[in-house]
Amino acid sequence: MPAYFATAPGKIILFGEHAVVYGRPAIAVPVLQVRAKATINFEPKSTPGKVTLRAPDIGLETTLADLPEDDPLAAVVLKAASAMNLTHIPACSIQITSNIPIAGGMGSGAAVSVAILRAFSASLGRPLNDEQVSNLAYEVEVIHHGTPSGIDNSVITYAKPVYFEKGKKIEILQVKRPFALVIGDTGVQSPTASVVGEVRHSWEQAGEQFERLFDAVGAIVASARKAIEQGSVDSLGTLMNENHALLRQMNVSSPELERLVEAACSAGALGAKLSGAGRGGNMIALVRQENSEAVASALTGVGAVRTILTEVRST
Ligand code: PMV
Repeated sequence: MPAYFATAPGKIILFGEHAVVYGRPAIAVPVLQVRAKATINFEPKSTPGKVTLRAPDIGLETTLADLPEDDPLAAVVLKAASAMNLTHIPACSIQITSNIPIAGGMGSGAAVSVAILRAFSASLGRPLNDEQVSNLAYEVEVIHHGTPSGIDNSVITYAKPVYFEKGKKIEILQVKRPFALVIGDTGVQSPTASVVGEVRHSWEQAGEQFERLFDAVGAIVASARKAIEQGSVDSLGTLMNENHALLRQMNVSSPELERLVEAACSAGALGAKLSGAGRGGNMIALVRQENSEAVASALTGVGAVRTILTEVRST
């Protein structure tokens, strides 16, 4: 039997992280250079119903039966099986590979879920549609993160720039003029759930102050949407700097992120901010093509463990 595979891209949040958990809008874009891939091989000679899960990058080899039901990988497979109304799962192996940094704010968990959901359902001749894939990936995000906004599973499923508001239908953004970003990885792993938990704690302590910060972020997201749709790339840089200042006030930046943001701006970026949960993970810098290399090498010079140049465009 042939092998089936599917891939899903990474993502970054351009504007609105954290505030999005509290009902404000956010903008996220796919990063097509990094991907998770799931490959399904049927193993008719194996024990009936035996599902082997392999993720060589992280040294994982196990079977579905050996994982607790709330393990994110087990949950993806079980949720897919139930969405397809499968009465039994045929013996198979699911191999997962990914070059999306783990716990770096690039959506590695959601991308793995989306790739498995697509490959597994297609391999059984019952491909799940985008809405089903996104919803099931969201349910798995709940296991990873507790209270995810739903932005990761949406942007990764649709693989297009999205304007997202919790509980509303996502909107695909039209990018009038493509623009370039350099992503800089601090190399510091920062689990989203714990940073989101700390912000919740601060919000519980100082609700009004945090609501004001979230409102200010919401206003930036609205302006950024216009700037993207009208092609005024320069003003996006200023909006990124403003969003970063608000994230700093939410106390989710870190010395490593600050170093990278400062270095990018000194090297000529139009604007820069942390991206994702913060405390570690990645930052992004808006660059003109001609200074992208200077910005990337400035980031490496102050400790970025890797940089990725990506272009945001309507795909
Ligand atoms: O980019 P990540 O996976 O670190 O996601 C963080 C985005 C938050 O807004 C902080 C949380 C969420 O669920 O939207």
